[in-house]
Amino acid sequence: MGIWKVFTSILILNLFWSKPISSNSLSSAELSEIPTNFLNYAKKPELVKWMVDVRRRIHENPELGFEEFETSKLIRNELDKMGIAYKHPIAVTGVVGMIGTGKPPFVAIRADMDALAMQESVEWEHKSKAPGKMHACGHDAHVAMLLGAAKILQDHRHELKGTVILVFQPAEEGAGGAKKMVEDGVLDNIDAIFGLHVSADLPIGSVASRAGALLAGCGFFEAVISGKGGHAAIPQHTIDPIVAASSVIVSLQHLVSREADPLDSQVVTVGKFQGGGAFNVIPDSVTIGGTFRAFSTESFKQLKKRIEEVIKAQAAVQRCHATVDFHPENKIFFPVTANNKVLHKHFENVAGDMLGTANVKNMQPLMGSEDFSFYSEVIPAYFSFIGMKNETLGEFPSVHSPYFTINEDVLPYGAALHASLASRYLLEFESKSHIFDEKIRDEL
Ligand SMILES: *[C@@H]1O[C@H](CO)[C@@H](O)[C@H](O)[C@H]1NC(C)=O
Ligand SMILES: [Zn+2]
Ligand SMILES: [Zn+2]
Repeated sequence: MGIWKVFTSILILNLFWSKPISSNSLSSAELSEIPTNFLNYAKKPELVKWMVDVRRRIHENPELGFEEFETSKLIRNELDKMGIAYKHPIAVTGVVGMIGTGKPPFVAIRADMDALAMQESVEWEHKSKAPGKMHACGHDAHVAMLLGAAKILQDHRHELKGTVILVFQPAEEGAGGAKKMVEDGVLDNIDAIFGLHVSADLPIGSVASRAGALLAGCGFFEAVISGKGGHAAIPQHTIDPIVAASSVIVSLQHLVSREADPLDSQVVTVGKFQGGGAFNVIPDSVTIGGTFRAFSTESFKQLKKRIEEVIKAQAAVQRCHATVDFHPENKIFFPVTANNKVLHKHFENVAGDMLGTANVKNMQPLMGSEDFSFYSEVIPAYFSFIGMKNETLGEFPSVHSPYFTINEDVLPYGAALHASLASRYLLEFESKSHIFDEKIRDEL
């Protein structure tokens, strides 16, 4: 897109003559008012109504990873209406918008766009119209919140001391849309990136995160254990892969319980076991599959190595042959989602100003994973959870449930938090952006 080219050349020119940038002139009291002002702005009935409408339109038409064509079009239409320039396509359906001066620093805020391959069980007016597809992870709300942030920032664009990059990415649920976005250069020149996820466990008006590792690195494996089938009553003429697979699974349980440091959280789960179909037949082969997770690259690599060794060796003990595939169904490894320490402080300050420090919670790491990790591998990044629990409205089932529902009251909070994190970053890191470099990234 032409606009992007112009934008890029402005950027390149600026890299040569714009530094040092004068430091901002806002007092700390003025800075601390920005998040509350943005929250009040986001809670304006017409802005809320628009975000709710966007979210419901996306909810009705869920699209799976790398197929978010209509969602992407909806986003571009809304950006067009706001007069926000963007680049498209990136990573098939991805959209990258930009607001502000077109000059450094560049700070990114990100939303994922994909739905899950599952049937919605919630009966309501805006139920999914696509059989077998559902927004059950809240990515419809994430898009609405990022568009809400875009609106707030565009309406305050003359106060921005740099450029906010809006990252709408495809395929968070397993296919690694973020990885493709990174490969397509979305992080080039970006100083920092922020991401949010809705949470049914946190009260509305609160947020939670932590410095350092937040979400686990995640991998998958699938193994085919081959023996020699035959009559169940004549085992001596067979090589039984069912028994071999059973030994393999039991031995895999020992990797975490006997080989890992008890203080270094890890998981190995076998969730798939397929073999045989008759009571009186020993099958030729069995397929098992599962997932493994850890919080450091070292532990992750060690688990991967040992999973392969245990499957092959334990199958061999039972005279079977095993092959192991670490990318079944094209699944990829997700790195650890690690939050930058400097950005953690920034998050505490900004979210604290917006919600009160008591509503900014420190949380334990989770074994879940997020492809936001592909950003956190490359630049300083920060991921957090935003609450939507409201007991007067009843239970909100957790993500990936067919009964998952969004408390739409969360939308203004998410929009204002995105907008505040980004605009405060530009104000506070404006003069520091060129020293906010490798050294800080290495601290992760
Ligand atoms: C929780 O829900 C009730 C009922 O709709 C509402 O009055 C209240 O404002 C909600 N609380 C928050 C913090 O949104
Ligand atoms: Zn999910
Ligand atoms: Zn999600």
